[in-house]
Amino acid sequence: MAMGLAQWLGPLLLVSLWGLSAPALLLRRLGEHMQRLQENSGLHLRLGSGTATLPRAGWLEQPLDPFNASDGRSFLQRYWVNDQHRAGQEGPVFLHLGGEGSLGPGSVMAGHPAALAPAFGALVISLEHRFYGLSVPPGGLGMAQLRYLSSRHSLADVVSARLALSRLFNVSSTSPWICFGGSYAGSLAAWTRLKFPHLIFASVASSAPVRATLDFSEYNDVVSRSLANAAIGGSLQIVMHSLGQRCVSLSRAETVTQLRASEPQGSGLGDRQWLYQTCTEFGFYVTCKGPGCPFSQLPALPSQLELCEQVFGLSASSVAQAVAQTNAYYGGQSPGATQVLFVNGDTDPWHVLSVTQTLGPSEPALLIPSASHCLDMAPERPSDSPSLRLGRQSISQQLQTWLRQAKQSQLQRGV
Ligand SMILES: *[C@@H]1O[C@H](CO)[C@@H](O)[C@H](O)[C@H]1NC(C)=O
Ligand SMILES: *[C@@H]1O[C@H](CO)[C@@H](O)[C@H](O)[C@H]1NC(C)=O
Repeated sequence: MAMGLAQWLGPLLLVSLWGLSAPALLLRRLGEHMQRLQENSGLHLRLGSGTATLPRAGWLEQPLDPFNASDGRSFLQRYWVNDQHRAGQEGPVFLHLGGEGSLGPGSVMAGHPAALAPAFGALVISLEHRFYGLSVPPGGLGMAQLRYLSSRHSLADVVSARLALSRLFNVSSTSPWICFGGSYAGSLAAWTRLKFPHLIFASVASSAPVRATLDFSEYNDVVSRSLANAAIGGSLQIVMHSLGQRCVSLSRAETVTQLRASEPQGSGLGDRQWLYQTCTEFGFYVTCKGPGCPFSQLPALPSQLELCEQVFGLSASSVAQAVAQTNAYYGGQSPGATQVLFVNGDTDPWHVLSVTQTLGPSEPALLIPSASHCLDMAPERPSDSPSLRLGRQSISQQLQTWLRQAKQSQLQRGV
C-alpha cells in the first residue's frame, strides 16, 4: 500500500489534503509531502548503514534586503552539506534549492540530487528558502518583514550563498554549479540559471510551474483525466477512506485567523508565507466550474482572492497585476534559459504550467508518463515504474553531456 501511495501521490494528495486548507496552499502541501518522503528515506539510510556520516547544517549571514546596499540588516539562512561523494575541489556542486517549506538533512542525503552525486563526484549542498523553516529573519512574519519575501529575493540569496559557500568549501572557480529543485523550487532552479548563467552552469527543474496564473482551472482537467484512469481511480477508492480520518476541515474564519498570525511557527509550517507569495507573485488559485469538476466544494476565484485582502490587505487587482509582472519578468513557459532540463510527470496537474516540450537544443524537456508531482526527485524504490527509471537516467545523461561539452570547450580555449 505504501508503494502504491507514493506512486499516485499527485491526485491522491489533492483529495487527502483538500479539507486542510485553502486551495492556494495545495502546492505547499505537495512540497511538504515530498520532503517528508526524502527525510524519512534519509533517516532510514543513516540508521540502516550505521557508518554513513551525518550531513552538516550550517548558517550563512545574508542581507535582508539584497537590493539596498545601505540596509545593513541581515538574517541567518540554513544550509546542509553532504561531502561524502566529493571527488575534489574541481568537481561539480549540486545545489538543491529549498522552496516553500523547511529543509532537513534528507535534502542532501536522499532523493535524486544525492543519488546522482557519487557518479559525478559532486559536493551536495541544500539551501533553505528565506522565511521558511528556520531561515526566518528576526522580526517574524509581519507585513513590514514580508516585503523581503519573493522569488527574486531568493535568487539573490542563491547568488550570495554560491560565493560564500565557494570560499567556505574551497570550491574551484572552474567547478560547475548545478541547481536542482522541485515544484516552486524547480522554478527557482530554472530562474537562477536564466538570470545568472555566469554563476550557475545548468539546472534540473522538476515539476516547475514557471507560468504564474491567477485562475488555475486547468488543474482539474488533469485531475479528472487521472481519476478516469482505472488504476488511479481504483486505488483512490480504497485509499481515500483511510486518509479521510486525517482531514481536519477548518472554517473560513479559523483559516483567516491562522493565516493572520505573524509570529514564526518554527519548522515545517509556512502557510502564511506561501499565501503571501501567491498573493504577490503567482496566484495559482485552483478553481473548478461545470459538471466535469471532480470536486464540488471548491471556492470560486473571488472568494480565494478575498483571502489576500483579508490576510494581507492586498486587493484582487494588485494580485492580478503581480501575476502578470511575474510572467513578464521570468518569461512564463518560454523562459529562454539554456541548459535547463525541465522534468514533469503527466499525471501531475502542475505540468500544464511548466515546460513539457523541448524548446531548443539546449532547452530540453522530459515528460514522464504516469509520474506525479516531483516523483523524479523522490528516493528510488523497487516499485518505481520503468518510465520513471528511464526518466532519471535521462536526467543523468543530460548532465553528463553538458559537463562533457563544457570540458571540451574549456580545453579548446586553453589550447
Ligand atoms: C535602504 O536602506 C536605508 C537604510 O536602512 C533606508 O533608509 C532606505 O529607505 C532604504 N531604501 C529603500 C528603497 O528601501
Ligand atoms: C580550504 O583550504 C584551506 C587552506 O588550504 C584549508 O585550511 C581548509 O581546511 C579547507 N577547507 C575545506 C572545507 O576543505
